[in-house]
Amino acid sequence: MPSAFPSPRRSLIGAAGQRPCTLVVCRGCCCGDPRKHPGTDHAWQLERLRAAAAEHGFLVRTTDCLGPCDQANVVVVQPSAAGRRAGGRATWVGFAMDDDCTDELIGWAAAGGPGLAQPPVALELQFVRPPRDARVRSRR
Ligand code: FES
Repeated sequence: MPSAFPSPRRSLIGAAGQRPCTLVVCRGCCCGDPRKHPGTDHAWQLERLRAAAAEHGFLVRTTDCLGPCDQANVVVVQPSAAGRRAGGRATWVGFAMDDDCTDELIGWAAAGGPGLAQPPVALELQFVRPPRDARVRSRR
């Protein structure tokens, strides 16, 4: 007789299968630091991203230094589960500091992100190569 409750493993797979597009926003030693990049309101950028995520159904996480500090602010656009199945891969965006770039990140994530929607052309110009040993970790 089948159990009335799904096994924990099955539940995890089910949850992972529904994972939305996620913006991993670097807030390490350089990204988001107003002393190093005084022309950007970094807190406002993060607020905008989080508000848009709540509105459009994608996720925003912050992380410690991802490596390429000379390309701050760095944001990694991780595909949703459906986007990954469609061939989308994590995309690193550098120099993500102005309002236009923030708008384009929001628009791409809201449209589905890697694998499901084409990135804005201007945003493609800011794609950067991830460091070889890149690992994205959530901090907040
Ligand atoms: S602080 Fe963002 S890449 Fe180093």
